Amino acid sequence: MKPTRSMLFAVCPMLVLGFLYYSSGKLHLHVWGQKPHKHKEATVTEAGNAKTEPEVETVISVGRIVGSAKQGSPGTSVAITKQHPPTVSRGSHKPHTVPRKPHPEDQKKVYDKLGFLLKLDGKLPPELEYKYGNLSEGVCKPGYVDAKMTSIFPKFVKPVSMFLDQNFKRLKNINNYLPPFGFRTQENIIELILATTKNYGLNPELDSLACKRCVIVGNGGILSNKSLGSRIDEYDIIVRLNEAPVEGFVKDVGSKTTMRITYPEGAIQNPLRYEKDSLFVFSAFKPQDFRWLRQMVFKDNLRGVDGFWKSVAHQVPREPSEMRILNPYFIQEAAFRFIGLPHNNGLMGKGNIPTLGAVAITMALHNCDEVAVAGFGYDMSTPHAPLHYYEKVKMSAIKESWTHNISKEKEFLRKLVKAGVITDLTNGI
Ligand SMILES: *[C@@H]1O[C@H](CO)[C@@H](O)[C@H](O)[C@H]1NC(C)=O
Ligand SMILES: *[C@@H]1O[C@H](CO)[C@@H](O)[C@H](O)[C@H]1NC(C)=O
Ligand SMILES: *[C@@H]1O[C@H](CO)[C@@H](O)[C@H](O)[C@H]1NC(C)=O
Repeated sequence: MKPTRSMLFAVCPMLVLGFLYYSSGKLHLHVWGQKPHKHKEATVTEAGNAKTEPEVETVISVGRIVGSAKQGSPGTSVAITKQHPPTVSRGSHKPHTVPRKPHPEDQKKVYDKLGFLLKLDGKLPPELEYKYGNLSEGVCKPGYVDAKMTSIFPKFVKPVSMFLDQNFKRLKNINNYLPPFGFRTQENIIELILATTKNYGLNPELDSLACKRCVIVGNGGILSNKSLGSRIDEYDIIVRLNEAPVEGFVKDVGSKTTMRITYPEGAIQNPLRYEKDSLFVFSAFKPQDFRWLRQMVFKDNLRGVDGFWKSVAHQVPREPSEMRILNPYFIQEAAFRFIGLPHNNGLMGKGNIPTLGAVAITMALHNCDEVAVAGFGYDMSTPHAPLHYYEKVKMSAIKESWTHNISKEKEFLRKLVKAGVITDLTNGI
C-alpha cells in the first residue's frame, strides 16, 4: 500500500504540472495558432535581432512582437521562431524527461503573421526527400501537396471534402457563417438541392484514383500562344472557371474539362457551349445565389434576378446528377487563413472575397496529390496584352476591385509557387 501512495504523491504534482503545461500550450495554440512551445524561445524582431527569452515569457513576448508588428509592413513583419513539439508527451508523465536539444534546422524556422514559413525555397525537407526524392519525374507523388503545404504552413489540415453532401450541416467550420464563408440561412434550400443531385463526389473512376494530379486553368491572357493544351490534358482532374471557353482554344488550354466552377454571374449563358461529361460545380458568393441554383437544378423559369451584378444564365443544361455545390469552407479558408483578408465579423466586406481562382486552388490543396495552375497572374508591365485568353479586353481595363484584394492574393499564390507546393505552368504568379 505504502509504495503505491508515495507513488501517487509523486505522480500528482507531475500531473498538475503536466496539465498546467498542457493548458498553457492550448492557450498559446488558441491565441496565436502556434504549436505549444517548450524550450527557451528565440523571437526575432523586425530588425532581425534574435533574442532568447525564458519560457514563462513566451506568450507575452510573442504577443508583443505580434502587436508591434501591426505597424510594420504587412507580410514580412512578424517573425516567430517555431520550436520543437514539447518533449513531455501529453499522456505519459515520465519523471525524467531529458529535454531535447533544439535542432539547428528547426531554430531557423521563422513564420509570418499568417503562419507561413518565411524562408521559402523549392527544396524538399529531409523527411520528404526520403519519401519523394527518389520518384522519377512525371510519376504522381501520393500526398505530395499535403506534405509540402504542411511543411510551409504547419496549421494545414488536409481533410475537407470538395463538395457538400447530405451531412453538410455537421460541418462546424461553415455552419455558423453566412455565404460566401458558410451556408447559414440556406440550409433548407441546400438540403432540397442535394436530395435531387444525389451525387456528392467526382465520379467513381476519379474518386478511386490512388494519386490525383489536378490542374486549375485560370482565364488569363498569359495562356495565349503557349501551346500548353496537350500538357493540360494530361492531368487527371482539369478544373475550369466560369465561362472560359475550350472550343477554339484547344491548342492553348486543352480539350478536357472535369469540372467547371461557377457562380451565377459567371455561368456560361449559351446552353450550346456547355461541354459534355463535365461537372457543373456551383460556388455561392451571396445568399440569393442558392435560389438561382435551385431554379437551375429544377429547370424552373428564372425568377427574381435582382441582387446579381450582371445578367445570369437562364438555364444550365446539365442533369442534377452532374451538379455539385463547392464546399464554402474553401472561400473562408482562402480569405482568412491563407490570404489574410479582413475578417469583418465573418461577413462579406470591402476587399475580403478571394477570387474564384484562389478558391479553386484552395480546394485542390485539400483534394489533390499534385497541383498545377495555368493562366494565373497578370503582367501589368504589358497593359496592351489581353486580360483573358478568350476576349479582346486589355489588361489596362482592370479596375481597382472592391471585393477582391489582388495584390494580397498574389502574395499567397507566390508562397505556394516559391515553395513548390503548386507548379505554375505559365509562370505568371
Ligand atoms: C530509390 O529507392 C530504392 C529503394 O526504395 C533504391 O533501391 C534505389 O536505389 C533508390 N534510387 C535512387 C536513385 O536513390
Ligand atoms: C497569338 O498569336 C496570334 C497569331 O500569331 C496573334 O495574332 C496574337 O496576337 C497572339 N496573341 C498574343 C497574346 O500574343
Ligand atoms: C489590400 O490589402 C492591403 C494590405 O492589407 C491594403 O492596404 C489594401 O487597401 C487592400 N485593398 C483592398 C481593395 O481592400
